[in-house]
Amino acid sequence: MNSFSFNGAGEVIFGRGAVSRLPELAGRYGKGPVLVALDPYFSRSVLKERVARELKAAGIAAVFFDQIEAEPDPRSAEAGARTARRKGCNLVIGIGGGSALDTAKGLAILAGNPGKVTDYVGLDRVPGPGLPTILVPTTAGTGSEVTFTAVFTSRKTKSKGGINSRFLYPAVALLDPDLTLSLPPAVTAQTGMDALTHAMEAYTSNKANPLSDLVALKAVALIGGSLKRAVQKGSDLEARENMLLGSLLAGLALANAGVTAVHAMAYPLGALFNIPHGLANAVLLPYVLEFNRSACPERFARLGALLAGTGEASTAEQGARQCVRKVVRLSRAIGIPEKLSDLKIPRKAIPQMAPAALKVARPIENNPRPITEEDIAALYRKMY
Ligand SMILES: [Fe+2]
Repeated sequence: MNSFSFNGAGEVIFGRGAVSRLPELAGRYGKGPVLVALDPYFSRSVLKERVARELKAAGIAAVFFDQIEAEPDPRSAEAGARTARRKGCNLVIGIGGGSALDTAKGLAILAGNPGKVTDYVGLDRVPGPGLPTILVPTTAGTGSEVTFTAVFTSRKTKSKGGINSRFLYPAVALLDPDLTLSLPPAVTAQTGMDALTHAMEAYTSNKANPLSDLVALKAVALIGGSLKRAVQKGSDLEARENMLLGSLLAGLALANAGVTAVHAMAYPLGALFNIPHGLANAVLLPYVLEFNRSACPERFARLGALLAGTGEASTAEQGARQCVRKVVRLSRAIGIPEKLSDLKIPRKAIPQMAPAALKVARPIENNPRPITEEDIAALYRKMY
């Protein structure tokens, strides 16, 4: 067995109504001011009013920052860091989907270190800790609340890059399923497939370890059993709880075992065509599973059995094929498109996308089946 380590948020708090613990948790760091990086989706929401009121009642000054974009540009984190410094903030609270949480993590790092986002893109390039963070996800998808990654998409260079550093691990991941009840069906579907992708890729990654396996398998069981319900009936609390727990566990799996070629191939779709991260992964997932399944059929068979809610197939190869079929069926049931043409991506972009995907080095290294630029181009071509 390879040696391994296992990390996540300093503390994980999960449960209905958990968001009401925010003032108490923020109070551990003093009376503020705290910078609250809030998804603009909540700019005029009851949630914002509630957080503002409860922090104020606890005597904690809050500065709200909502210049956050979907697939955030480095500039949003840099602007947030300037605000945090100017106001003398001692803590960053991030509330929202993956883009808001990544912005919160990025700005917290920049508030405690010189330089800008591009200086730290890559692995372990951040010199020291930034401000501590408390992260509150409102989608069941990215798992960003427990990972050491913040991804930014430069509008100027049309490229995507992640800061990966242990200093990005949040102090607290605060998960409240009530916050996900109002998530629209399409967002539930796309972010849920992102979480499923994290778990399936981590379980079949070359860097998988016994602890990441445990959380990945549990995540696949939870998401496989609840995603369709959460999309079809958003108010189903049990489905929402399972999805949020599933995405948390998938995030832990991803943070420790990495992801594979699906995420690498999704990068150019986001960078060049602004396709939301979850949607890009969701469309790619069945194709890459089909490509990879021969590399570790036993592992894919186990995932297939979990998705089917049945015992394992009689042979690993059959089970691995069942795994791909199950993912295709789930995707269809929740309205995920099946082709790159459905996303309006022109075929002529493939010669640009394939080398860009190959450059996403770590997911490519983690892929259980060696994959070349020509393989990637062939996979993209299959998607028309
Ligand atoms: Fe992802």
